[in-house]
Amino acid sequence: MTSPSATAERRGRFICLEGIEGVGKSTHLGAVVAHLQARGITTVSTREPGGTPLGEAVRGLLLSRDYPPMHADTELLLMFAARAEHLRHFILPALDAGTWVVSDRFTDATYAYQGGGRGIAVERIAALEDWVQGRVRPDLTILLDADVATGLARAGKRGEADRFEQETVDFFERVRAVYRERARLAPDRYAVVDARRDLVQVRAALLSRIDDLLARSVPGAS
Ligand code: TMP
Repeated sequence: MTSPSATAERRGRFICLEGIEGVGKSTHLGAVVAHLQARGITTVSTREPGGTPLGEAVRGLLLSRDYPPMHADTELLLMFAARAEHLRHFILPALDAGTWVVSDRFTDATYAYQGGGRGIAVERIAALEDWVQGRVRPDLTILLDADVATGLARAGKRGEADRFEQETVDFFERVRAVYRERARLAPDRYAVVDARRDLVQVRAALLSRIDDLLARSVPGAS
């Protein structure tokens, strides 16, 4: 099987929203899509793990607390199994058709949760990333960043905790640290938005980063 080729050769743009639980990714996703569509850009939204019927079934396994504890390698491989399906059956066909894709999480979450949180070696994750994605990477990753106490307090209001939400504060500190470090090392590909501010301010900051990408991608669109 051939590897997917670089996003640079594709017509649509690929944007991801990332962050620890409770920072408001899902809340802002719809606003990003509406913002792009209002500028004449055909846009679809999706999420990981998930995004396809099979991927959503895998998500059910990953978030469920009904099984005995899952080995970290199993968790990592299930994330990439769902991603392989998602890329080939949803993300790449959309980008090839010129549609922009906005995803609630992608591979940065694997580096953060399975790498930082679970302690899996970065090289293992990078090897799977290259295998499953070829050279495909997001054009822009927006990191909604808030301290762990703020994030978990907001997430705690959403009802029963899933398998990840029941993790310790230390786990989420490690997750957050990896996200912030990855953003620091590649400032061209990441935008860090302070998610502790109120919704209107966060949304304005986030949409201005989307406008920057638009200005680079579609001259005259923003
Ligand atoms: P969420 O999409 O509702 O935030 O839930 C998905 C959970 O899955 C979240 O706790 C983060 C976790 N996750 C990983 O651990 N690794 C990954 O690669 C992805 C995409 C998500």
